[in-house]
Amino acid sequence: MGRIPQNFIDELLNRVDIVDIIDARVQLKKAGRDYTACCPFHNEKTPSFTVSPAKQFYHCFGCGVHGSAIGFLMDYEHFEFPEAVEELARAAGLEVPCEEGRPAHNQEPRQDYHALLDQSDRFYRQQLREHPQASTAVTYLKDRGLSGEIAARFGLGYAPPGWDALAKHLGKNSSQLAVELGLLVARDDGHVYDRFRERILFPIRDRRGRTIGFGGRVLGDDKPKYLNSPESPVFHKGRELYGLYEARKANRKLDYLLVVEGYMDVVALAQFGINHAVATLGTATTEDHLERLYRTVPEVVFCFDGDKAGRRAAWRALENALPLLRDGREARFLFLPEGEDPDSLVRKIGSDAFLQKTVDSVPLSHFFYESLMRQVDTRSVDGQARLVDLARPLLQKLPDSVFRDLMLKQLAQHSGLDSALLTGRIFADESPPAAAPRTTSADGSRRSPVRTAIRLLLEKPELAATAPQPCGFADLEVAGVPLLLELLELFRAHPHLCSGATLEHWRGRPEAQHLGKLLLQPLEIPEEGLDEEFSGALQRLEEHANEQKTAALLQKDRDNGLTDTEKQELKQLLGIRAQDSG
Ligand code: GTP
Ligand code: MN
Repeated sequence: MGRIPQNFIDELLNRVDIVDIIDARVQLKKAGRDYTACCPFHNEKTPSFTVSPAKQFYHCFGCGVHGSAIGFLMDYEHFEFPEAVEELARAAGLEVPCEEGRPAHNQEPRQDYHALLDQSDRFYRQQLREHPQASTAVTYLKDRGLSGEIAARFGLGYAPPGWDALAKHLGKNSSQLAVELGLLVARDDGHVYDRFRERILFPIRDRRGRTIGFGGRVLGDDKPKYLNSPESPVFHKGRELYGLYEARKANRKLDYLLVVEGYMDVVALAQFGINHAVATLGTATTEDHLERLYRTVPEVVFCFDGDKAGRRAAWRALENALPLLRDGREARFLFLPEGEDPDSLVRKIGSDAFLQKTVDSVPLSHFFYESLMRQVDTRSVDGQARLVDLARPLLQKLPDSVFRDLMLKQLAQHSGLDSALLTGRIFADESPPAAAPRTTSADGSRRSPVRTAIRLLLEKPELAATAPQPCGFADLEVAGVPLLLELLELFRAHPHLCSGATLEHWRGRPEAQHLGKLLLQPLEIPEEGLDEEFSGALQRLEEHANEQKTAALLQKDRDNGLTDTEKQELKQLLGIRAQDSG
């Protein structure tokens, strides 16, 4: 599938009305120019969720979620990005193009894939009931404590012995497609045979419940123990979670998810009434997995072996989770006793005791600092410095949040360093305002000109056209300037882009957070003052750029001397400044 062109996203967000999209799912009430409701993303009694038709943007003052209509569908419906775009396109009566110009969603073969997977899925389930040799499989499942009801809920099937049971069932016409899906394997001479033979099959379902692949377990001790469908046009291991569909189906509202390692763990926990476990498919927990998890629930408990390999896997999950941990999201770790997996443990101690263990699991912050503290000796100054070094790149991954502040505070405690100092050390290059000279704005708060300019542009993109060209502060080394330049360029080309669509241009980039936050800041400047305030901010930036350049040239003059052109430039700069102050 090709990429969806950005200008289509722009157009789409211009066409649909975010108010309609949200109102169809959460009843909105008019309040002045905006609409409000109780936030669907956190529990609250008084509404702090606001939708702005002018900006085509929603946000919640309570929990901080915000975004465009696309972002809303992703958060609310747990859609992936392309799905959300498609849903909106349907509402607007548009067809989603892709970069190459053909429809992004190549309907035809996709439907064939799903039909074939469905046909195979039904075949395997039927074999579990009817195949003459299926009794061994049924006995195996019973011996592992699974009831018929649970087997049916997870759609367990049986791939019979022999090389061509499925191949025959699907027929010659389908074999090409079945090979693409990994259901059949093609030999060099063109003959095809069944991938899964004499195994119990666990269908892997997508968000909508469609089977997209299988995991197959041998009945005895043969190797390999598990055989999985290979990657295919509809199956991506790094993205799918076994049991997520079933968990969502079994729970009207999910509070948290338990991430375990095996198919059997998911199914066995369900057998014990624990219906909120999911498993990765024999791979590490990827960022895609985590994004999907956090789009579904605010809290994730990772269940790993207590051994070295388990802790290493847990650490990888932690690293991938950090960027996603905005306020309200939580990650915990449950380390299992030596030699146990969730399947064996829940059988041993029962579901209540097992659930209690998830409640008592280790918060991410504990696991984080405990792991780092193992590597250093903080009784020495070197050790303290090393701790900060180890923590820095990891903490930098965290979104700006109360949680991040708390993590810093803990670092201060562990390292014995002052937390304000640490903040400066670790996030020095982050927030736009720090380095730039500030002025006091109407509301009395101190704002940098970069921030002001960005805020004003977001309010009124047409302002970009009034910015002088060439830009006098393009080389200014102040955080936020590259973002401002990018916005100016975008708005020169699209002077009527709404905030929601603007934000989509930064999807997946760290700046999206800054933009979202700036959008939420009240703008205490009357409509008619916007132009003047904007040109004032740009002028201050240009002055600042000139000062910076002057200082650099003066420094160079002292160090190495200046070339003729540089002398000329310096004279001019000093001239400008003399004029300014006189
Ligand atoms: P049981 O022995 O049936 O209890 O399996 P388990 O779920 O406890 O599996 P285990 O802990 O051994 O492995 C966890 C997961 O790793 C499995 O669910 C598979 O996804 C994957 N896995 C395990 N063994 C193999 C294998 O031999 N090949 C492949 N490709 N994946 C495997
Ligand atoms: Mn097991």
